[in-house]
Amino acid sequence: MAILIDQTSRVLVQGITGREGQARTKLMKEYGTNVAAGVTPGKGGQEVHGVPVFNTVREAWEKSGPFDVSAVFVPAHLVKDGALEALEAGVKLLVLVPDRVPIWDVLEIARLAREKEARFVGPNTLGVLSPGKAVCGMIGGTAERAREWFQAGPVGVSSRSGGMTSALAYYMSREGVGQSTIVHVGGDAVVGLSHPEIMELFEKDPETRAVAMFGEIGTSQEERVADLIEQKRFTKPLIAFIGGKAAKTGTRFSHAGAIVEGTRGSYETKVKRLREAGAHVVDSIFDIPGLARRILGAKKEKTSVDIRWKTALTDVKPNKISVRGYAVDALMGEATFAQAIYLLFKGEFPSPEVGKLIDAILVSSIDHGASPPSVLTARTAASTGSELNAAVAAGVLAISRWHGGAVEEGMRLFLEAARRMESKSLGEQAAAEEILQELKRSGGKASGFGHRLHTRDPRTARLFSLAEELGLAGRHVRIARAVEAGLERSTGKALPINVDGAIAALLCDLGFPPELGNAFFIIARVPGLVAHVHEEKTRMKPMRKIHPENFEYDGPGKREV
Ligand SMILES: CC(C)(COP(=O)(O)OP(=O)(O)OC[C@H]1O[C@@H](n2cnc3c(N)ncnc32)[C@H](O)[C@@H]1OP(=O)(O)O)[C@@H](O)C(=O)NCCC(=O)NCCS
Repeated sequence: MAILIDQTSRVLVQGITGREGQARTKLMKEYGTNVAAGVTPGKGGQEVHGVPVFNTVREAWEKSGPFDVSAVFVPAHLVKDGALEALEAGVKLLVLVPDRVPIWDVLEIARLAREKEARFVGPNTLGVLSPGKAVCGMIGGTAERAREWFQAGPVGVSSRSGGMTSALAYYMSREGVGQSTIVHVGGDAVVGLSHPEIMELFEKDPETRAVAMFGEIGTSQEERVADLIEQKRFTKPLIAFIGGKAAKTGTRFSHAGAIVEGTRGSYETKVKRLREAGAHVVDSIFDIPGLARRILGAKKEKTSVDIRWKTALTDVKPNKISVRGYAVDALMGEATFAQAIYLLFKGEFPSPEVGKLIDAILVSSIDHGASPPSVLTARTAASTGSELNAAVAAGVLAISRWHGGAVEEGMRLFLEAARRMESKSLGEQAAAEEILQELKRSGGKASGFGHRLHTRDPRTARLFSLAEELGLAGRHVRIARAVEAGLERSTGKALPINVDGAIAALLCDLGFPPELGNAFFIIARVPGLVAHVHEEKTRMKPMRKIHPENFEYDGPGKREV
Protein backbone atom coordinates (compact mmCIF):
# COMPACT_ATOMS: atom_id res chain seq x y z
CA MET A 1 0.00 0.00 0.00
CA ALA A 2 0.91 3.63 -0.19
CA ILE A 3 -0.93 6.86 0.48
CA LEU A 4 -2.70 9.18 -1.98
CA ILE A 5 -1.49 7.53 -5.19
CA ASP A 6 -0.50 4.13 -6.50
CA GLN A 7 -0.42 2.32 -9.85
CA THR A 8 -4.19 1.78 -9.78
CA SER A 9 -5.08 5.48 -9.45
CA ARG A 10 -6.65 6.92 -12.61
CA VAL A 11 -5.05 10.31 -13.15
CA LEU A 12 -6.38 13.31 -15.06
CA VAL A 13 -3.99 16.07 -16.20
CA GLN A 14 -5.50 19.57 -16.41
CA GLY A 15 -3.49 21.86 -18.69
CA ILE A 16 -2.07 18.78 -20.45
CA THR A 17 -1.30 20.59 -23.71
CA GLY A 18 0.82 23.28 -22.03
CA ARG A 19 4.59 23.13 -21.78
CA GLU A 20 4.77 21.57 -18.33
CA GLY A 21 1.59 19.55 -18.81
CA GLN A 22 3.11 17.79 -21.80
CA ALA A 23 6.52 17.25 -20.21
CA ARG A 24 5.13 15.95 -16.92
CA THR A 25 2.60 13.68 -18.63
CA LYS A 26 5.58 11.99 -20.28
CA LEU A 27 7.34 11.66 -16.90
CA MET A 28 4.25 10.29 -15.19
CA LYS A 29 3.42 7.79 -17.92
CA GLU A 30 6.98 6.55 -18.22
CA TYR A 31 7.11 6.03 -14.45
CA GLY A 32 3.98 3.87 -14.57
CA THR A 33 1.25 6.32 -13.55
CA ASN A 34 -2.11 5.51 -15.06
CA VAL A 35 -2.67 8.84 -16.85
CA ALA A 36 -6.14 8.30 -18.26
CA ALA A 37 -7.03 11.66 -19.83
CA GLY A 38 -6.20 15.33 -20.10
CA VAL A 39 -8.17 18.55 -20.27
CA THR A 40 -7.47 21.87 -21.94
CA PRO A 41 -10.44 24.03 -22.96
CA GLY A 42 -10.64 24.30 -26.75
CA LYS A 43 -8.10 21.53 -27.36
CA GLY A 44 -10.42 18.51 -27.14
CA GLY A 45 -9.71 15.81 -29.73
CA GLN A 46 -5.91 16.08 -29.53
CA GLU A 47 -3.59 13.55 -27.93
CA VAL A 48 -0.57 14.17 -25.69
CA HIS A 49 1.84 11.23 -25.46
CA GLY A 50 -1.07 8.96 -26.37
CA VAL A 51 -3.40 10.47 -23.73
CA PRO A 52 -6.75 11.75 -25.10
CA VAL A 53 -7.49 15.45 -24.49
CA PHE A 54 -10.98 16.74 -23.67
CA ASN A 55 -12.45 20.24 -23.43
CA THR A 56 -13.88 19.87 -19.93
CA VAL A 57 -13.40 17.62 -16.92
CA ARG A 58 -17.06 16.60 -17.09
CA GLU A 59 -16.65 15.48 -20.72
CA ALA A 60 -13.43 13.62 -19.89
CA TRP A 61 -15.15 11.89 -16.96
CA GLU A 62 -18.18 10.89 -19.05
CA LYS A 63 -16.17 9.63 -22.01
CA SER A 64 -13.21 8.00 -20.31
CA GLY A 65 -14.48 7.07 -16.84
CA PRO A 66 -13.98 8.48 -13.31
CA PHE A 67 -10.64 9.82 -12.07
CA ASP A 68 -9.07 9.34 -8.66
CA VAL A 69 -6.63 12.25 -8.94
CA SER A 70 -6.21 15.36 -11.04
CA ALA A 71 -2.77 16.87 -11.59
CA VAL A 72 -3.28 20.57 -12.28
CA PHE A 73 -0.74 22.30 -14.53
CA VAL A 74 -2.69 25.44 -15.43
CA PRO A 75 -1.27 28.92 -14.78
CA ALA A 76 -1.77 30.24 -11.23
CA HIS A 77 -4.55 32.73 -11.99
CA LEU A 78 -6.62 29.99 -13.68
CA VAL A 79 -6.07 27.31 -11.03
CA LYS A 80 -9.25 28.17 -9.16
CA ASP A 81 -11.41 27.58 -12.27
CA GLY A 82 -9.67 24.32 -13.06
CA ALA A 83 -9.78 23.06 -9.48
CA LEU A 84 -13.44 23.93 -8.93
CA GLU A 85 -14.33 22.29 -12.24
CA ALA A 86 -12.57 19.08 -11.21
CA LEU A 87 -14.19 19.07 -7.76
CA GLU A 88 -17.64 19.68 -9.26
CA ALA A 89 -17.07 16.79 -11.66
CA GLY A 90 -16.34 14.46 -8.72
CA VAL A 91 -12.53 14.24 -8.49
CA LYS A 92 -11.62 13.56 -4.86
CA LEU A 93 -7.92 14.43 -4.90
CA LEU A 94 -6.19 17.32 -6.65
CA VAL A 95 -2.46 17.97 -6.95
CA LEU A 96 -2.08 21.71 -7.51
CA VAL A 97 1.41 22.22 -8.94
CA PRO A 98 1.46 25.98 -9.79
CA ASP A 99 3.10 28.52 -7.55
CA ARG A 100 1.71 32.01 -6.78
CA VAL A 101 -1.93 30.92 -6.65
CA PRO A 102 -3.84 33.77 -4.93
CA ILE A 103 -4.62 32.90 -1.33
CA TRP A 104 -8.33 33.79 -1.74
CA ASP A 105 -8.56 31.31 -4.61
CA VAL A 106 -7.03 28.60 -2.40
CA LEU A 107 -9.58 29.35 0.31
CA GLU A 108 -12.39 29.00 -2.22
CA ILE A 109 -10.96 25.68 -3.46
CA ALA A 110 -10.70 24.53 0.18
CA ARG A 111 -14.35 25.47 0.81
CA LEU A 112 -15.64 23.44 -2.14
CA ALA A 113 -13.24 20.55 -1.40
CA ARG A 114 -14.69 20.36 2.14
CA GLU A 115 -18.22 20.41 0.77
CA LYS A 116 -17.41 17.62 -1.71
CA GLU A 117 -15.37 15.64 0.85
CA ALA A 118 -12.37 15.96 -1.43
CA ARG A 119 -8.70 16.77 -0.69
CA PHE A 120 -5.94 18.65 -2.40
CA VAL A 121 -2.14 18.77 -2.21
CA GLY A 122 -0.49 22.15 -2.79
CA PRO A 123 -0.59 24.64 -4.34
CA ASN A 124 3.09 25.19 -5.11
CA THR A 125 3.82 21.49 -4.82
CA LEU A 126 6.13 19.09 -6.62
CA GLY A 127 3.43 16.49 -5.99
CA VAL A 128 3.32 12.95 -4.69
CA LEU A 129 5.33 9.83 -5.54
CA SER A 130 4.90 6.26 -4.35
CA PRO A 131 8.19 4.56 -5.32
CA GLY A 132 7.82 1.89 -7.96
CA LYS A 133 4.10 2.60 -8.28
CA ALA A 134 3.17 6.05 -9.52
CA VAL A 135 4.05 9.73 -9.49
CA CYS A 136 1.68 12.67 -9.75
CA GLY A 137 3.29 16.06 -10.37
CA MET A 138 6.94 16.84 -10.98
CA ILE A 139 8.93 14.75 -8.48
CA GLY A 140 11.98 13.13 -10.03
CA GLY A 141 12.35 15.22 -13.17
CA THR A 142 12.59 12.19 -15.44
CA ALA A 143 11.15 8.72 -14.90
CA GLU A 144 14.63 7.21 -15.12
CA ARG A 145 15.94 9.48 -12.39
CA ALA A 146 12.86 8.95 -10.22
CA ARG A 147 13.34 5.18 -10.49
CA GLU A 148 16.98 5.52 -9.55
CA TRP A 149 16.53 8.00 -6.69
CA PHE A 150 13.50 6.65 -4.87
CA GLN A 151 13.43 3.10 -3.54
CA ALA A 152 10.26 1.44 -2.24
CA GLY A 153 10.26 0.79 1.51
CA PRO A 154 8.71 1.48 4.91
CA VAL A 155 9.35 5.19 5.57
CA GLY A 156 6.81 7.87 4.62
CA VAL A 157 8.17 11.30 3.68
CA SER A 158 6.35 14.58 4.14
CA SER A 159 8.08 17.84 3.29
CA ARG A 160 7.33 21.55 3.06
CA SER A 161 10.30 22.14 0.77
CA GLY A 162 10.27 20.87 -2.81
CA GLY A 163 14.02 20.47 -3.14
CA MET A 164 14.31 18.73 0.22
CA THR A 165 11.50 16.32 -0.69
CA SER A 166 13.66 14.74 -3.35
CA ALA A 167 16.95 15.21 -1.47
CA LEU A 168 15.67 13.55 1.69
CA ALA A 169 14.26 10.53 -0.16
CA TYR A 170 17.42 10.28 -2.26
CA TYR A 171 19.73 10.21 0.76
CA MET A 172 17.48 7.65 2.43
CA SER A 173 17.57 5.42 -0.68
CA ARG A 174 21.35 5.67 -0.76
CA GLU A 175 21.45 4.37 2.79
CA GLY A 176 19.10 1.49 1.96
CA VAL A 177 16.04 3.07 3.59
CA GLY A 178 13.15 2.94 1.13
CA GLN A 179 10.01 5.05 1.13
CA SER A 180 6.29 4.20 1.05
CA THR A 181 5.10 7.55 -0.31
CA ILE A 182 6.83 10.91 -0.72
CA VAL A 183 4.63 13.98 -0.36
CA HIS A 184 5.56 17.61 -0.94
CA VAL A 185 2.82 19.46 0.92
CA GLY A 186 3.82 22.79 -0.66
CA GLY A 187 5.50 25.85 0.71
CA ASP A 188 2.56 28.28 0.76
CA ALA A 189 0.97 29.69 3.89
CA VAL A 190 -2.33 28.01 3.05
CA VAL A 191 -2.16 24.51 1.64
CA GLY A 192 -4.62 21.65 1.25
CA LEU A 193 -3.19 18.59 2.96
CA SER A 194 -0.60 19.73 5.49
CA HIS A 195 1.81 17.68 7.66
CA PRO A 196 -0.81 16.61 10.26
CA GLU A 197 -3.25 15.25 7.65
CA ILE A 198 -0.40 13.43 5.92
CA MET A 199 0.63 11.89 9.27
CA GLU A 200 -2.92 10.61 9.76
CA LEU A 201 -2.80 9.00 6.32
CA PHE A 202 0.59 7.40 7.06
CA GLU A 203 -0.81 6.16 10.37
CA LYS A 204 -3.44 4.18 8.48
CA ASP A 205 -1.02 2.82 5.88
CA PRO A 206 0.26 -0.63 6.92
CA GLU A 207 3.28 -0.32 4.63
CA THR A 208 4.53 2.79 6.45
CA ARG A 209 6.47 1.93 9.63
CA ALA A 210 8.02 5.34 10.32
CA VAL A 211 7.84 8.87 8.91
CA ALA A 212 10.49 11.45 8.03
CA MET A 213 9.20 15.02 8.12
CA PHE A 214 10.93 18.11 6.72
CA GLY A 215 9.32 20.99 8.59
CA GLU A 216 9.94 24.69 8.47
CA ILE A 217 9.37 27.75 10.56
CA GLY A 218 5.99 29.45 10.10
CA THR A 219 2.43 28.05 10.17
CA SER A 220 1.40 25.63 12.94
CA GLN A 221 1.75 22.40 10.98
CA GLU A 222 4.56 20.89 13.05
CA GLU A 223 2.96 21.90 16.38
CA ARG A 224 -0.24 20.19 15.22
CA VAL A 225 1.76 17.06 14.44
CA ALA A 226 3.03 17.16 18.04
CA ASP A 227 -0.60 17.41 19.21
CA LEU A 228 -1.50 14.36 17.11
CA ILE A 229 1.29 12.34 18.70
CA GLU A 230 0.16 13.33 22.18
CA GLN A 231 -3.41 12.45 21.33
CA LYS A 232 -2.15 9.03 20.11
CA ARG A 233 -3.63 9.71 16.69
CA PHE A 234 -0.18 9.30 15.22
CA THR A 235 1.74 6.49 16.85
CA LYS A 236 4.54 5.60 14.43
CA PRO A 237 8.14 6.81 14.96
CA LEU A 238 8.61 10.32 13.58
CA ILE A 239 11.98 11.78 12.61
CA ALA A 240 11.73 15.52 12.07
CA PHE A 241 14.01 18.25 10.81
CA ILE A 242 12.97 21.89 11.08
CA GLY A 243 14.45 24.37 8.60
CA GLY A 244 14.85 28.07 9.31
CA LYS A 245 16.76 27.97 12.61
CA ALA A 246 18.61 31.16 11.71
CA ALA A 247 15.59 33.13 10.42
CA LYS A 248 14.65 36.30 12.29
CA THR A 249 11.08 37.14 13.30
CA GLY A 250 9.17 38.78 10.42
CA THR A 251 11.60 37.61 7.72
CA ARG A 252 10.30 35.18 5.13
CA PHE A 253 12.50 32.09 4.92
CA SER A 254 12.46 30.95 1.32
CA HIS A 255 8.78 29.88 1.10
CA ALA A 256 5.68 32.05 1.48
CA GLY A 257 4.52 30.10 4.53
CA ALA A 258 7.90 30.06 6.24
CA ILE A 259 7.64 33.18 8.37
CA VAL A 260 7.71 33.63 12.12
CA GLU A 261 5.31 36.20 13.53
CA GLY A 262 6.15 37.03 17.13
CA THR A 263 6.90 33.66 18.73
CA ARG A 264 4.29 31.82 16.65
CA GLY A 265 5.79 29.27 14.30
CA SER A 266 9.33 29.76 15.60
CA TYR A 267 12.05 27.15 15.29
CA GLU A 268 12.39 26.81 19.04
CA THR A 269 8.66 26.30 19.62
CA LYS A 270 8.41 23.64 16.94
CA VAL A 271 11.45 21.69 18.14
CA LYS A 272 10.30 21.92 21.76
CA ARG A 273 6.75 20.75 21.01
CA LEU A 274 7.90 17.86 18.81
CA ARG A 275 10.50 16.69 21.35
CA GLU A 276 7.95 16.91 24.21
CA ALA A 277 5.62 14.73 22.17
CA GLY A 278 8.33 12.13 21.63
CA ALA A 279 9.45 12.80 18.06
CA HIS A 280 13.13 12.45 17.11
CA VAL A 281 14.23 15.93 16.06
CA VAL A 282 17.56 15.99 14.21
CA ASP A 283 19.92 18.91 13.54
CA SER A 284 20.91 17.78 10.07
CA ILE A 285 18.92 16.05 7.39
CA PHE A 286 21.92 13.77 6.86
CA ASP A 287 21.14 12.22 10.28
CA ILE A 288 17.71 11.07 9.07
CA PRO A 289 18.63 7.96 7.02
CA GLY A 290 20.88 6.45 9.71
CA LEU A 291 18.38 7.17 12.46
CA ALA A 292 15.54 5.71 10.38
CA ARG A 293 17.60 2.56 9.87
CA ARG A 294 18.29 2.24 13.59
CA ILE A 295 14.64 2.81 14.47
CA LEU A 296 13.50 0.20 11.97
CA GLY A 297 16.25 -2.16 13.05
CA ALA A 298 17.19 -2.62 9.43
CA LYS A 299 20.65 -3.49 8.18
CA LYS A 300 22.16 -1.21 5.58
CA GLU A 301 20.97 -2.69 2.32
CA LYS A 302 22.84 -2.33 -0.89
CA THR A 303 20.60 -0.36 -3.18
CA SER A 304 21.08 0.73 -6.74
CA VAL A 305 21.31 4.32 -5.50
CA ASP A 306 24.83 4.75 -4.30
CA ILE A 307 27.78 6.85 -5.25
CA ARG A 308 28.51 4.72 -8.30
CA TRP A 309 27.46 6.49 -11.46
CA LYS A 310 25.78 4.72 -14.33
CA THR A 311 26.58 4.20 -17.98
CA ALA A 312 24.49 2.24 -20.46
CA LEU A 313 26.94 2.34 -23.34
CA THR A 314 29.64 -0.28 -23.09
CA ASP A 315 30.21 -3.07 -20.61
CA VAL A 316 33.81 -4.19 -20.23
CA LYS A 317 34.63 -7.40 -18.38
CA PRO A 318 37.76 -9.54 -18.62
CA ASN A 319 37.93 -10.87 -22.19
CA LYS A 320 34.49 -9.46 -23.02
CA ILE A 321 33.46 -6.08 -24.46
CA SER A 322 29.80 -5.41 -25.23
CA VAL A 323 28.57 -2.24 -26.88
CA ARG A 324 24.93 -1.71 -26.02
CA GLY A 325 24.74 -5.44 -25.34
CA TYR A 326 26.40 -6.57 -28.59
CA ALA A 327 29.82 -8.23 -28.37
CA VAL A 328 32.19 -5.87 -30.12
CA ASP A 329 33.97 -8.77 -31.86
CA ALA A 330 30.61 -9.92 -33.25
CA LEU A 331 29.91 -6.40 -34.53
CA MET A 332 33.32 -6.25 -36.21
CA GLY A 333 32.99 -7.24 -39.84
CA GLU A 334 29.15 -7.21 -39.54
CA ALA A 335 28.30 -3.63 -38.63
CA THR A 336 29.50 -0.66 -40.66
CA PHE A 337 31.05 2.22 -38.73
CA ALA A 338 27.85 4.19 -39.38
CA GLN A 339 25.69 1.41 -37.94
CA ALA A 340 27.93 1.21 -34.88
CA ILE A 341 27.55 4.97 -34.38
CA TYR A 342 23.76 4.64 -34.57
CA LEU A 343 23.91 1.75 -32.09
CA LEU A 344 25.98 3.80 -29.64
CA PHE A 345 23.81 6.90 -29.92
CA LYS A 346 20.38 5.30 -29.96
CA GLY A 347 20.98 2.00 -28.22
CA GLU A 348 19.47 -0.12 -31.01
CA PHE A 349 21.01 -1.76 -34.05
CA PRO A 350 19.83 0.00 -37.24
CA SER A 351 18.54 -1.54 -40.45
CA PRO A 352 20.99 -1.73 -43.40
CA GLU A 353 19.04 1.15 -45.03
CA VAL A 354 19.46 3.41 -42.00
CA GLY A 355 23.15 2.44 -41.81
CA LYS A 356 23.58 3.33 -45.47
CA LEU A 357 21.98 6.74 -45.05
CA ILE A 358 24.11 7.58 -42.02
CA ASP A 359 27.15 6.46 -43.92
CA ALA A 360 26.22 8.83 -46.74
CA ILE A 361 25.73 11.67 -44.24
CA LEU A 362 29.23 11.07 -42.86
CA VAL A 363 30.81 10.87 -46.31
CA SER A 364 29.00 14.06 -47.38
CA SER A 365 30.84 16.10 -44.76
CA ILE A 366 34.21 14.35 -44.69
CA ASP A 367 36.04 17.34 -46.14
CA HIS A 368 35.22 20.66 -47.75
CA GLY A 369 38.60 21.85 -48.93
CA ALA A 370 41.14 24.06 -47.23
CA SER A 371 39.07 27.17 -46.52
CA PRO A 372 36.57 26.15 -43.77
CA PRO A 373 37.45 27.73 -40.41
CA SER A 374 38.02 24.35 -38.71
CA VAL A 375 40.61 23.38 -41.33
CA LEU A 376 42.38 26.76 -41.16
CA THR A 377 42.47 26.46 -37.37
CA ALA A 378 43.84 22.91 -37.48
CA ARG A 379 46.45 23.81 -40.11
CA THR A 380 47.49 26.90 -38.14
CA ALA A 381 48.01 24.81 -35.01
CA ALA A 382 49.87 22.15 -37.04
CA SER A 383 52.13 24.76 -38.62
CA THR A 384 53.32 25.88 -35.18
CA GLY A 385 54.47 22.35 -34.38
CA SER A 386 51.41 21.10 -32.44
CA GLU A 387 50.97 17.35 -32.28
CA LEU A 388 48.38 15.70 -34.52
CA ASN A 389 45.87 15.30 -31.68
CA ALA A 390 46.24 18.92 -30.55
CA ALA A 391 45.91 20.31 -34.08
CA VAL A 392 42.86 18.15 -34.85
CA ALA A 393 41.29 19.11 -31.52
CA ALA A 394 41.87 22.80 -32.38
CA GLY A 395 39.97 22.23 -35.63
CA VAL A 396 37.12 20.49 -33.81
CA LEU A 397 36.91 23.41 -31.37
CA ALA A 398 36.27 25.74 -34.30
CA ILE A 399 33.15 23.75 -35.22
CA SER A 400 30.51 25.82 -33.58
CA ARG A 401 27.32 27.77 -34.07
CA TRP A 402 28.24 29.35 -37.41
CA HIS A 403 30.35 26.51 -38.80
CA GLY A 404 28.76 23.07 -38.71
CA GLY A 405 26.34 24.21 -36.02
CA ALA A 406 23.55 24.72 -38.51
CA VAL A 407 22.65 21.03 -38.22
CA GLU A 408 21.45 21.40 -34.64
CA GLU A 409 19.71 24.72 -35.28
CA GLY A 410 18.11 23.33 -38.44
CA MET A 411 16.83 20.29 -36.54
CA ARG A 412 15.22 22.55 -33.95
CA LEU A 413 13.52 24.53 -36.71
CA PHE A 414 12.14 21.43 -38.47
CA LEU A 415 11.02 19.81 -35.22
CA GLU A 416 9.22 23.01 -34.21
CA ALA A 417 7.46 23.11 -37.59
CA ALA A 418 6.42 19.46 -37.14
CA ARG A 419 5.15 20.22 -33.61
CA ARG A 420 3.01 23.07 -34.93
CA MET A 421 1.69 20.91 -37.76
CA GLU A 422 0.42 18.53 -35.15
CA SER A 423 -0.80 20.93 -32.51
CA LYS A 424 -2.42 23.37 -34.93
CA SER A 425 -3.35 20.93 -37.72
CA LEU A 426 -1.28 22.88 -40.26
CA GLY A 427 0.25 21.68 -43.52
CA GLU A 428 4.04 21.82 -44.09
CA GLN A 429 3.81 25.06 -46.05
CA ALA A 430 1.68 26.87 -43.45
CA ALA A 431 3.90 25.74 -40.56
CA ALA A 432 7.02 26.82 -42.48
CA GLU A 433 5.49 30.24 -43.32
CA GLU A 434 4.51 30.81 -39.69
CA ILE A 435 8.04 30.09 -38.46
CA LEU A 436 9.70 32.14 -41.21
CA GLN A 437 7.54 35.14 -40.35
CA GLU A 438 8.49 34.82 -36.68
CA LEU A 439 12.18 34.58 -37.61
CA LYS A 440 11.83 37.67 -39.78
CA ARG A 441 10.21 39.63 -36.97
CA SER A 442 12.92 38.65 -34.50
CA GLY A 443 15.78 39.22 -36.96
CA GLY A 444 16.72 35.52 -36.91
CA LYS A 445 17.63 33.36 -39.88
CA ALA A 446 16.68 29.87 -40.98
CA SER A 447 19.67 27.61 -40.37
CA GLY A 448 20.61 25.15 -43.10
CA PHE A 449 19.77 27.23 -46.15
CA GLY A 450 21.99 29.01 -48.68
CA HIS A 451 25.73 28.60 -49.23
CA ARG A 452 28.53 31.08 -49.81
CA LEU A 453 29.77 29.00 -52.78
CA HIS A 454 27.24 26.46 -53.99
CA THR A 455 23.96 27.48 -55.59
CA ARG A 456 22.94 23.85 -55.89
CA ASP A 457 24.78 21.83 -53.26
CA PRO A 458 25.51 18.39 -54.83
CA ARG A 459 25.51 16.80 -51.40
CA THR A 460 21.94 17.87 -50.64
CA ALA A 461 20.59 16.45 -53.89
CA ARG A 462 22.36 13.11 -53.35
CA LEU A 463 21.37 12.78 -49.70
CA PHE A 464 17.72 13.42 -50.49
CA SER A 465 17.65 11.11 -53.52
CA LEU A 466 19.31 8.36 -51.50
CA ALA A 467 16.86 8.83 -48.63
CA GLU A 468 13.96 8.56 -51.13
CA GLU A 469 15.48 5.38 -52.64
CA LEU A 470 15.88 3.87 -49.18
CA GLY A 471 12.34 4.86 -48.15
CA LEU A 472 13.68 7.04 -45.32
CA ALA A 473 12.71 10.55 -46.46
CA GLY A 474 9.81 11.67 -44.30
CA ARG A 475 7.96 14.63 -42.93
CA HIS A 476 11.06 16.65 -42.01
CA VAL A 477 12.44 16.46 -45.54
CA ARG A 478 9.08 17.79 -46.78
CA ILE A 479 9.26 20.55 -44.16
CA ALA A 480 12.80 21.47 -45.30
CA ARG A 481 11.54 21.79 -48.86
CA ALA A 482 8.60 23.91 -47.68
CA VAL A 483 10.99 26.24 -45.81
CA GLU A 484 13.19 26.47 -48.92
CA ALA A 485 10.17 27.47 -51.03
CA GLY A 486 8.96 29.91 -48.37
CA LEU A 487 12.38 31.56 -48.18
CA GLU A 488 12.46 32.05 -51.92
CA ARG A 489 9.00 33.60 -51.87
CA SER A 490 9.76 35.96 -48.99
CA THR A 491 13.30 37.05 -49.97
CA GLY A 492 12.90 36.90 -53.76
CA LYS A 493 16.15 34.95 -54.04
CA ALA A 494 16.97 31.25 -54.02
CA LEU A 495 18.36 30.04 -50.68
CA PRO A 496 18.60 26.31 -51.34
CA ILE A 497 18.85 23.69 -48.62
CA ASN A 498 22.54 23.23 -47.92
CA VAL A 499 24.20 20.07 -46.67
CA ASP A 500 23.66 21.05 -43.03
CA GLY A 501 19.95 21.58 -43.68
CA ALA A 502 19.70 18.27 -45.53
CA ILE A 503 21.46 16.39 -42.73
CA ALA A 504 19.25 18.15 -40.18
CA ALA A 505 16.08 17.04 -41.95
CA LEU A 506 17.30 13.45 -42.33
CA LEU A 507 18.44 13.18 -38.70
CA CYS A 508 14.99 14.39 -37.61
CA ASP A 509 13.39 11.74 -39.83
CA LEU A 510 15.70 9.16 -38.25
CA GLY A 511 14.52 10.24 -34.80
CA PHE A 512 17.72 11.78 -33.43
CA PRO A 513 17.47 14.62 -30.89
CA PRO A 514 18.86 18.01 -32.01
CA GLU A 515 21.54 17.88 -29.31
CA LEU A 516 23.26 15.17 -31.36
CA GLY A 517 23.02 17.06 -34.67
CA ASN A 518 26.50 18.54 -34.61
CA ALA A 519 27.97 15.23 -33.51
CA PHE A 520 27.52 13.88 -37.02
CA PHE A 521 29.35 16.86 -38.51
CA ILE A 522 32.17 16.55 -36.01
CA ILE A 523 32.58 12.79 -36.53
CA ALA A 524 32.43 13.22 -40.31
CA ARG A 525 34.96 16.04 -40.39
CA VAL A 526 37.65 14.47 -38.18
CA PRO A 527 39.22 12.40 -41.03
CA GLY A 528 39.32 15.58 -43.14
CA LEU A 529 41.05 17.45 -40.33
CA VAL A 530 43.56 14.62 -39.83
CA ALA A 531 44.37 14.66 -43.55
CA HIS A 532 44.86 18.46 -43.55
CA VAL A 533 47.03 18.39 -40.43
CA HIS A 534 49.16 15.59 -41.86
CA GLU A 535 49.49 17.40 -45.18
CA GLU A 536 50.41 20.63 -43.42
CA LYS A 537 53.13 18.89 -41.43
CA THR A 538 54.55 16.94 -44.34
CA ARG A 539 54.24 19.39 -47.24
CA MET A 540 54.47 22.88 -45.76
CA LYS A 541 57.10 24.90 -43.98
CA PRO A 542 56.54 25.56 -40.26
CA MET A 543 55.05 28.93 -39.22
CA ARG A 544 53.95 29.86 -42.73
CA LYS A 545 51.32 32.56 -43.25
CA ILE A 546 48.17 30.63 -44.17
CA HIS A 547 45.98 32.59 -46.55
CA PRO A 548 42.34 31.44 -46.38
CA GLU A 549 41.85 31.57 -50.16
CA ASN A 550 45.18 31.82 -51.90
CA PHE A 551 45.75 28.11 -52.48
CA GLU A 552 45.51 25.74 -55.38
CA TYR A 553 44.27 22.14 -55.63
CA ASP A 554 46.93 19.87 -57.13
CA GLY A 555 45.42 16.45 -56.36
CA PRO A 556 44.11 13.88 -58.86
CA GLY A 557 41.70 14.91 -61.62
CA LYS A 558 38.19 13.51 -62.04
CA ARG A 559 37.93 9.79 -61.21
CA GLU A 560 34.89 7.47 -61.10
CA VAL A 561 33.79 5.65 -57.90
C1 LIG B 1 1.39 25.76 -13.89
C2 LIG B 1 2.61 25.96 -14.72
C3 LIG B 1 3.48 24.72 -14.54
C4 LIG B 1 2.19 26.08 -16.18
O1 LIG B 1 3.30 26.40 -16.93
P1 LIG B 1 3.36 26.11 -18.50
O2 LIG B 1 3.11 24.68 -18.78
O3 LIG B 1 4.63 26.69 -18.99
O4 LIG B 1 2.15 26.98 -19.04
P2 LIG B 1 1.46 26.91 -20.44
O5 LIG B 1 0.84 28.24 -20.67
O6 LIG B 1 2.39 26.33 -21.47
O7 LIG B 1 0.31 25.81 -20.24
C5 LIG B 1 -0.81 25.96 -19.45
C6 LIG B 1 -1.96 25.28 -20.16
O8 LIG B 1 -3.11 25.25 -19.29
C7 LIG B 1 -4.24 25.44 -20.10
N1 LIG B 1 -5.37 25.85 -19.28
C8 LIG B 1 -5.74 27.10 -18.89
N2 LIG B 1 -6.84 27.00 -18.12
C9 LIG B 1 -7.17 25.70 -18.04
C10 LIG B 1 -8.20 24.98 -17.39
N3 LIG B 1 -9.11 25.58 -16.65
N4 LIG B 1 -8.22 23.63 -17.51
C11 LIG B 1 -7.29 22.98 -18.23
N5 LIG B 1 -6.30 23.61 -18.88
C12 LIG B 1 -6.23 24.96 -18.78
C13 LIG B 1 -3.79 26.50 -21.09
O9 LIG B 1 -4.67 26.58 -22.21
C14 LIG B 1 -2.39 26.02 -21.42
O10 LIG B 1 -2.41 25.05 -22.46
P3 LIG B 1 -2.00 25.51 -24.00
O11 LIG B 1 -0.60 26.07 -23.93
O12 LIG B 1 -2.05 24.25 -24.80
O13 LIG B 1 -3.02 26.52 -24.42
C15 LIG B 1 3.42 27.22 -14.30
O14 LIG B 1 2.58 28.33 -14.44
C16 LIG B 1 3.93 27.17 -12.88
O15 LIG B 1 3.27 27.51 -11.91
N6 LIG B 1 5.19 26.76 -12.71
C17 LIG B 1 5.84 26.63 -11.44
C18 LIG B 1 5.56 25.27 -10.87
C19 LIG B 1 6.34 25.04 -9.61
O16 LIG B 1 7.50 25.34 -9.55
N7 LIG B 1 5.66 24.47 -8.58
C20 LIG B 1 6.21 24.27 -7.30
C21 LIG B 1 7.24 23.24 -7.22
S1 LIG B 1 8.20 23.37 -5.76
